[in-house]
Amino acid sequence: MADMTAAPVYNPLDPAFRADPYPFYDELRSREPAHLTPYGMVVLTRYEDVATTLRDPAMSRDVDANGAPRPDDPVWRRRRERRRDGAKSILNLDPPDHTRLRRLVNKAFTPPAIEALRVSVEQMVDDVLDRAAERGEFELVDELAFPVPFEVISDLLAIPKERGDEIREWSQVLTATLEPTTTVESLAQAEHASAQLVAYLVEIVEERRDNLGDDVLSALLVAEEEGDRLTTEELLAFVVLLYVAGHETTVNLIGNGTLALLRNRDQLARWRDDPGLDANAVDELLRFDGPVQHTVRIPVAPTVFGEGDGAIEAPAGSSVLCVLGAANHDPSVFADPHRLDLTRANANRHLAFSGGIHYCLGASLARLEASVAIGRLIRRFDEIELLAEPTFRDRLTIRGVDRMPLAVRT
Ligand code: HEM
Repeated sequence: MADMTAAPVYNPLDPAFRADPYPFYDELRSREPAHLTPYGMVVLTRYEDVATTLRDPAMSRDVDANGAPRPDDPVWRRRRERRRDGAKSILNLDPPDHTRLRRLVNKAFTPPAIEALRVSVEQMVDDVLDRAAERGEFELVDELAFPVPFEVISDLLAIPKERGDEIREWSQVLTATLEPTTTVESLAQAEHASAQLVAYLVEIVEERRDNLGDDVLSALLVAEEEGDRLTTEELLAFVVLLYVAGHETTVNLIGNGTLALLRNRDQLARWRDDPGLDANAVDELLRFDGPVQHTVRIPVAPTVFGEGDGAIEAPAGSSVLCVLGAANHDPSVFADPHRLDLTRANANRHLAFSGGIHYCLGASLARLEASVAIGRLIRRFDEIELLAEPTFRDRLTIRGVDRMPLAVRT
């Protein structure tokens, strides 16, 4: 039976938790695997519970459709209205709308379609590494981890890259609202950022209608025109999601992954010497310190989590936090889970890309970008040293390094 007296409180505001959530996850998982927070959210940390919940058709992603009590201030109200008007992304839709949209976009992101991008990703990465080699140092996040995924997604959509800094800024403001501690102020800022990003994209979409190409945006426009299957609002919401997901996450896989290797030099050497490890290595880095720490599901009917004295009933419309980072460190699935082992046989069972119908659409793309960026970095330079302790962005949902200056020598 779980020892409730010593149960830790899930506190995303605690600086120690934010700095390194994994010891807290361990404690929660062993003492209170279904944990009820003071603000009424159920937190799941066991692999089986998280995997089952993500795949359960009775768990919704549609925060507005399930009678959940939500704050009644104007910012939340406007957010609800915008969603009702069709500006919902695929990530926040349930079937059948989710199925219809996902079918339309799947084709562009299949493993063969993504593999076709390899040569251009290699070229982008090599350009960055050439410049780094000349200077003997570079800043990993600003020079490699952010620009490569950003260029790739911009090329896929055939959207110009000149406004990269603004788009990065808007994306960061938008993803701040994914934090469990999001405030009305951050929602208001996101409203503003989203309006700017959408206005920019509307211009591009209108122009593209008359100049279709072989990019993903054109393909979606054709789908829109062939029948009433993808509305303009859906198209815009999807492009915003692609933009944000396309570079707010992979940047952290490249950053967190490189850091994990620099702290585990034996593993770095092993990967450097064995290109056959490329795929498994990236999966292990995703398991070890994945960019997306948790995601929410909403029960459509009252649902019991946990067993015995630890059982909790989550009401319909409440929030259930599936902690992917905790599931990925569950010792009942991953032996010695806090050890980085690029040869781990079951590394690819991680839930870093979620599971079920919302399984990450960009998984193949993220894997390609990370394996090329990190693989080529560690093979290009014999010496890679941290020039300063890396800093982490103060975020929990999308967690990652935001500055990592490196000295490099061939
Ligand atoms: C390492 C990088 C990435 C990670 C860790 C990641 C993680 C995730 C996770 C956890 C989800 C599902 C959330 C849930 O189930 O509630 C998701 C969904 C999604 N991701 Fe990614 N992602 C990454 C990169 C990308 C990239 C590069 C793209 C696109 C170019 C992308 C596009 C999407 C989309 C469109 C969805 C929604 C899918 C749906 O609802 O059916 N992601 N991602």
